[in-house]
Formats: sequence, C-alpha cells, structure tokens
Amino acid sequence: MNCTAILRHARGTSLTTRSQLNYITSEILNCTKCPLHRTRKNAVPGEGNPNAKIMLIGEAPGYWEDVQGRPFVGAAGKFLESLLAEAGLKRQDVFICNILKCRPPGNREPQPNEISTCTTYLDRQINAVKPKIIVTLGTHSTAYIFAKAGLPFKGITETRGKLYKANVLGLNVHVFPTFHPAAALYNAKYKQTLIEDFKLLKTKILELKIG
Ligand code: URA
Repeated sequence: MNCTAILRHARGTSLTTRSQLNYITSEILNCTKCPLHRTRKNAVPGEGNPNAKIMLIGEAPGYWEDVQGRPFVGAAGKFLESLLAEAGLKRQDVFICNILKCRPPGNREPQPNEISTCTTYLDRQINAVKPKIIVTLGTHSTAYIFAKAGLPFKGITETRGKLYKANVLGLNVHVFPTFHPAAALYNAKYKQTLIEDFKLLKTKILELKIG
C-alpha cells in the first residue's frame, strides 16, 4: 500500500477504481520484474472504462502495441474493434488488457515464468474493475482465467463460444472465451467464428441485463 492508500485506509475510505488502476499502471510502466523489460519500447498496461462491465484479456503486446504503449492498436486491434461493434460495444465501453504487459521478442509465445510474474498486475486490474463478463481472447488468457476459476481447460477450440459462470479472484463473473482476433488474420476460417461469437456475446449481455 502506498502512503495515500494507507491514509485513506486509516480514514475508512477507499481509493476510487480509477486511482487504483492508475497506481497499477505506474507500477507496470516501471516494472523490471522479468527480462522482457530490457527489450520493450513501452510497457502496455491496458486501458478503458474503469467501471467497465466487460473486460477483454488478450495475450501480449505486439509490434505496434510496444511502439504506442496501448493494447490492440495493430491489425488485430482493428479487427477487435469491428468485433466489439458486432456485440454492440465500443472500445471506450470496455477495459482491454493482456496477460503480459511487455512484448515478447519477435512476438513469441509467453513463457510460463513470464505469465506467473506478470499476472499479479492482471489480477489486481480484475479486482479493481470488477467486471461482470471476462472475454478471454485465445489460449493463454483462457487457460489462465480457467485455472483461476478452477474450471478444466480442454483447449480453445472446444471451449470457445460459450458463457461460463465462474468465481475468479473472489468475484462472481461470467467468462466468455473466444479465439484470439489475430487468428483470423492468419486463417480466414476463424474470422466468421469470431464474428458469430461476438454476436452471441451481444445476446448474452442482453440476457444478463448488463448495460
Ligand atoms: N495481441 C494481443 O494479444 N494483445 C495486444 O495488445 C495486441 C495483439
């Protein structure tokens, strides 16, 4: 806890979600906990509505995210914005972040030690935002959130496109796994599935009355 937090705690008041997120962001921007900090241009903490009901979790920053310090700003990000529109959502409605906050060199797969070191930030972001639905994009974020929820993960193809009631970090949430948007850029067969999944997400948002 920093000094402001200690004073507020003593007064019985709590930090706003925005200031909690800002504090986590400043820690991420200064993080040197794993070797990825040596090769990054910018850390990518994540961004969006602090009171978002829907949180999207990707894998790790790519080239453009590393350059700009913002999540999903490259080609996969453009596609993600069109997918959000299928669900009746805009970027500013949701909170978007990643499992890893720094780009793995050459966009290689996140390593288990990087995931375990970095996800303390993700856990704190989830606890601050308190989303009602967590949309996991791809294998890594789905495997991570399913493990937190104590749900068996049988691979993204089998798991995607369904809503799972779960308890993640003490929060009652729904988890909605789908393919990573970048998959559609490499293989067109994933594009239609992603579009269908986000249309289904829209119906689930309406059913759950999450406005
Ligand atoms: N892919 C991800 O998983 N996250 C980003 O921010 C960009 C591409």
